[in-house]
Amino acid sequence: MNVVVGISGGIAAYKAVGVVRGLVLQGHDVHVVPTEAALRFVGAPTLEAISRNPVRTSVFDDVAQVRHVALGQQADLIVVAPATAHTLAKIAHGLSDDLLGTTILASTAPLVVAPAMHTEMWRNAATVANIELLRARGVTVVGPADGPLTGGDSGPGRLSEPDEIVAAALAVATRASSADPSGAEEARVADLAGVRLVVSAGGTREPLDPVRFIGNRSTGKQGAAIALAAARRGADVTVVAAELDGAVLQSLAAAPTIRVVPVSSALELETAMGAEAAAHDVVVMTAAVADYRPAEVAPGKIKKDDTGDEMTVRLVRNPDVLAGLVAARRDGQVVVGFAAETTEDRDELVALGRTKQLRKGADLLVLNSVGWTTGFGADDTSVIVIDREGAEVAEARGSKREVADALLDAVAERLVG
Ligand code: CTP
Repeated sequence: MNVVVGISGGIAAYKAVGVVRGLVLQGHDVHVVPTEAALRFVGAPTLEAISRNPVRTSVFDDVAQVRHVALGQQADLIVVAPATAHTLAKIAHGLSDDLLGTTILASTAPLVVAPAMHTEMWRNAATVANIELLRARGVTVVGPADGPLTGGDSGPGRLSEPDEIVAAALAVATRASSADPSGAEEARVADLAGVRLVVSAGGTREPLDPVRFIGNRSTGKQGAAIALAAARRGADVTVVAAELDGAVLQSLAAAPTIRVVPVSSALELETAMGAEAAAHDVVVMTAAVADYRPAEVAPGKIKKDDTGDEMTVRLVRNPDVLAGLVAARRDGQVVVGFAAETTEDRDELVALGRTKQLRKGADLLVLNSVGWTTGFGADDTSVIVIDREGAEVAEARGSKREVADALLDAVAERLVG
């Protein structure tokens, strides 16, 4: 994602280095635009080294590249940290007498400001009115925090911590990029903020030789829907992606905060999920994992002349990844499994799910029915969710996104409880 970090001239400007670094470490292309005053607190070479991009402050730099509007037009997200009372006033009133001002005016990207100033300035009616104006226009205001200030006094006015600013800004960008055009989703609160969720998605491929595999019809749509819904609700999301359908993978790319770990076979998925689960609070297994893999993988392409009219492939059992994750579950961690069954009958689906749950022991098991024409790749689905004891705790029908939110509601309840 292309991120512009504006820095205005306050003592907290030194902390902006942490914001820039946090964004760069998460793989974003960061362009720093300090005001003249900011450069009195933190030097351009530091900002260039940390952001890995040139730092300009005047509209008269690189005039040929029309830099005064180009940065804003290309930005996916603008973060101003620290935002002084003066800079907030300028943004609120559309003043553009420097590169930061023109960049913000020329941009339609989500804007996040992190104010920092003395308490009196924060409480001044002018600042209060400017903040209200900015909020009314959809600008996200992070902080300020309450605590010791530079003059030895204390109160609201401290710049929020850099990692909080980065997390809030990326959550805003994710919400904006996956926003429902109807706007209905906007109202959903960030109830999973700070929660780390890993979801496996797609279907594994078990190689027979360098060009062939045994696979399944899973596209990864449901796993991606869960990842996108969780990110929208503020969670820190990782997707362990087993051979996702191209369009599904692209839908994830639209959410810049979601980390994708590609895998292919069941054994690779087991290794990746084992490593990721240790660092996540919620573990969801939507991936269709092959229960068996070819006992031998031919080093070269298997030739008909060598195999004859019939060919037998010996398969060996793959590990049950979900059962392994349940066995390694940490205190407070929520592990969710899916159970796909080819039955149309509700009672039979629940009975099969309960039997499966005895083997799996997941905190939640999501039961859905699949068939030749239902389940895989479809946009709509219907599920029944059972708990560890086999009791029905939720039922949802609708788009995979709606079902994802219903499942996350059940997960959120368990995280609290
Ligand atoms: N699963 C897994 N490892 C496997 C097989 C399945 O982790 N080797 C997980 C799936 O990701 C899913 C759950 O277990 O969350 C149930 O998968 P499903 O295919 O419905 O069940 P199976 O364990 O394959 O049982 P059965 O063969 O009886 O349908």
